[in-house]
Amino acid sequence: MNTKKLIIGNWKMNPKTLALAKAQFSAIKKEAGKYKMVSVGISAPYIFLPELSKMASASLFVSAQNISSEKEGAHTGEVSSDMLSSMKIRNTIIGHSERRALGETNDFINKKIKSALRTKMNPVLCVGELERDSGMWYLGFVKTQIEECLAGIPKASLKNIVIAYEPVWAISSTENHREATPADFQEMKIYIQKVLSDMYGTPVHVPVLYGGSVDEKNAKGFLVEGGADGLLVGRSSLTPKKFVSIISIAHAINQNS
Ligand code: PGA
Repeated sequence: MNTKKLIIGNWKMNPKTLALAKAQFSAIKKEAGKYKMVSVGISAPYIFLPELSKMASASLFVSAQNISSEKEGAHTGEVSSDMLSSMKIRNTIIGHSERRALGETNDFINKKIKSALRTKMNPVLCVGELERDSGMWYLGFVKTQIEECLAGIPKASLKNIVIAYEPVWAISSTENHREATPADFQEMKIYIQKVLSDMYGTPVHVPVLYGGSVDEKNAKGFLVEGGADGLLVGRSSLTPKKFVSIISIAHAINQNS
């Protein structure tokens, strides 16, 4: 049986206006409906979520980019999982490297994941090493991220979780970024599955997405050779034509497999 590939656009702090956000979303939605063999979402800034969620459909869901670790109360500037759930936002990115760079630790991210799961939201947990130089230390780095971010999460909750492997050195906004290869991803996916199986004592299936400078030229390699369960797409998701090409590639792969 085919499992649909999951393609999520991470708009980060873009675009500049609500009008542009609505136009981009509707251009993607118009095309996404043609590709049934793929699940597609857009992670948009909080301020656009109410309007975009009115436009969401079976072929295009809306996701948050972050969530508070707390339930309610004196936390200026934060948005809780209850608030998002009350607006029917079911998905959120958690632990993106750009938030880790602002000081989010694995422990803090662990609280956010628990917060999301409390209201049955589906977190996309981002992991990934900052650099790749000599040696295999990056495997241990990602292992620690997964063990600490998922500490105390019961096995039954894993069905709601997706992991996105985003090596920071391959993200388009990283200075002097380099392209990761499908082999880089494949190695890490196998390793992540081993880390999870060791943690939970039995083989567990958590979808693993690839993210980092994905475009319409390299998407197929990560999905086919790399075996990615989907893609987290930053810059290329801001151009509907490019993002739709990536969606169509993922659709064709599932259709032909
Ligand atoms: P990018 O961003 O595709 O622009 O590299 C990916 C991400 O940071 O989620």
